Amino acid sequence: MKSFLNEKQIVIGVSGGIAAYKSSELIRILKKQGADIKIIMTENAGKFVGALTFKALSGQDVCAGLFDGKDGGSIRHIEWAEEADAVVIAPATANIIGKLANGIADDALSTFMLAVTSPVIICPSMNTHMYESRPVQRNLNTLEADGYIIIEPEEGELACGTTGAGRLPEPHYIADRLISTMFPSDLKGKKVLVSAGPTREPIDPVRYISNHSSGKMGYAVARAGEYRGADVTLISGPTSLPPVAGVKMVSIESACEMADAVFDQAENADIIIKVAAVADYHPKSISEHKIKKEEDVLSLTLDKNLDILKELGSRKKDQFLVGFAAETRDLDQNALKKMKEKNLDMIAGNLVGGSSSGFGSDTNQVTLYFSDGAKENLPVLTKDEVAHILFDRILVSMDGGRPAGK
Ligand code: PMT
Repeated sequence: MKSFLNEKQIVIGVSGGIAAYKSSELIRILKKQGADIKIIMTENAGKFVGALTFKALSGQDVCAGLFDGKDGGSIRHIEWAEEADAVVIAPATANIIGKLANGIADDALSTFMLAVTSPVIICPSMNTHMYESRPVQRNLNTLEADGYIIIEPEEGELACGTTGAGRLPEPHYIADRLISTMFPSDLKGKKVLVSAGPTREPIDPVRYISNHSSGKMGYAVARAGEYRGADVTLISGPTSLPPVAGVKMVSIESACEMADAVFDQAENADIIIKVAAVADYHPKSISEHKIKKEEDVLSLTLDKNLDILKELGSRKKDQFLVGFAAETRDLDQNALKKMKEKNLDMIAGNLVGGSSSGFGSDTNQVTLYFSDGAKENLPVLTKDEVAHILFDRILVSMDGGRPAGK
């Protein structure tokens, strides 16, 4: 199964800050995504983390000096610059930022950087006053104008004892930003609304009716949209997933709360993708106190929930509306019926109940149905891959056509 960074050449530049230890975790995350990692470190970085640590984690020799390498004088940093698909400098000290902004090349990392042509992410990390100083801000503005991607440091308690901006963001966040450089920004300017996860319909203060949705499929859709430059809002039922970086999150519990949140956001959205497994019914009354185990048989009366997607379909103007259909049989028939009844432009049908598709799994097997009658069977793919294909097809459809045979 493909990972986002399969066979990608990523160079991590490490300069001499206390946060250099976090680069180890960044290496681990990026390697897990299939990346081939090379490390170039400054002399001062070596005072915080040894080259041997980076060598062991990356599985490659580390470049720590200009004349470091085969035959004592290889121009390894130039080769690496030519091969790199993306570069991240984490942490980036005031010193390396100053050198890059002014074209100074006096060590392996700064020399390498002048030769790089791939996307570069700079992660400043230093004392708050240093970060806010005019020279550093001026240099960061220069780097931004030169096309570098700057990830702002987080605020918090710093190793030097002060509190403020200057902390290196979490490695997962940096990895996310790096992965996003691998995708086209073909959703830039689009507002995308995604719903994900289950809803919970309360019975009494301790019980509810719900379903097995983990949120993985919907979160993958939100992530894919964000990677491709969209302005994404994710309305999520209760899940155990971490929030998607860069995405506006709205947390809800019940179908009724989901409806309110969706209608609140829907008008401005260009694309709406409803992946959430919304309960079709809710208990007619919610007991104020925990229901006691007194009767042998307990009956609940359920009222129908509003069909949010159907309502969106009836209000639809200039929007692309996508539904998901979770079925246990007759996928074609049921998905097509839902697409028609809810006035959708596309529906993704998936059979649920198996281990490699539907609820909870990291993979999904989806059939796409389009309002013009076209249909596309996808193989078992990761939910992230499904999400990207979904956007590929949405963009083609919004553009007025689909490749022949699709
Ligand atoms: O979350 P995961 O564990 O990753 O699992 C993914 C998934 C199986 C939940 C997902 O792939 C999926 O199929 N989502 C749709 C689940 C569902 O509720 O299907 P449905 O056939 O009952 O509803 C059809 C569509 O109408 C859905 O887009 C749903 O969001 C929407 N709907 C349904 C009921 C309702 N009251 N309001 C709605 O908007």
